[in-house]
Amino acid sequence: MTQRTPIIGGNWKMNTDLESGMSLASCVVDGVENCDSCEVVVYPPFPFLQAVESVVDASKVHLGAQNMWHEESGAFTGEISGAMLKDVGVSSVLIGHSERRHVLGESDALIAQKVDLGIKQGLQVVLCVGETLKEREAGDTLAVVLLQLKTGLSNVSRDQMASIVIAYEPVWAIGTGKTATPDDAQSVHASIRSTIVDLYDDNIAQQTRIQYGGSVKPDNATDLFSCEDIDGALVGGASLSADSFTAIVLAACDS
Ligand code: PGA
Repeated sequence: MTQRTPIIGGNWKMNTDLESGMSLASCVVDGVENCDSCEVVVYPPFPFLQAVESVVDASKVHLGAQNMWHEESGAFTGEISGAMLKDVGVSSVLIGHSERRHVLGESDALIAQKVDLGIKQGLQVVLCVGETLKEREAGDTLAVVLLQLKTGLSNVSRDQMASIVIAYEPVWAIGTGKTATPDDAQSVHASIRSTIVDLYDDNIAQQTRIQYGGSVKPDNATDLFSCEDIDGALVGGASLSADSFTAIVLAACDS
């Protein structure tokens, strides 16, 4: 079996201020200092990227952004390009997070364009997919998730798959305290991986990291990470506490 390096992302969403964001980043840097077998990324709000970069620079912690626009530059008031993100030291970007899909109305087609440009601009792209509670209860989980996956990857070549991470985040588990059981999550992750086999090949599928997201905490992380197809986590609420986030990173390192 391919050994995949787990990846733990801390999605701060629209939280922290300049001072608390820098202090959180600094505590994360210290907390994960001895963790060699896991990739760690923090995703602060846009205005704090440069300040957080100065804290994580020269550490093991990578800098990520929560979103980007799908055009290179131009008259797009209020938007931020991949090149701007690169300029301030960002190496990873979240695309299609459920809050962007369901609160801001981003479509699969728009998300595919963002994925395409993010990769072309040299960013690691974390493509987020996940079903709502209504969709799960209607038995549509796989139909929804796999359509989001296929559309999101529609412009991605075999070579470009090395820049892709998938985050499976059931919408009903995000910020609610409800986590998918490890078995439920594993079964969706396995379906995502086998769809990547169909779209590309087994080798690419075995190398692609698939994170789980949705109320991941120190006390459920170990069970999730013990699942064969779960390669880390995208963490929201628990990433705002350096102790909780570090504990999740250490659980991934030990997995
Ligand atoms: P949560 O958020 O850990 O607070 O559920 C996860 C996410 O939205 O990425």
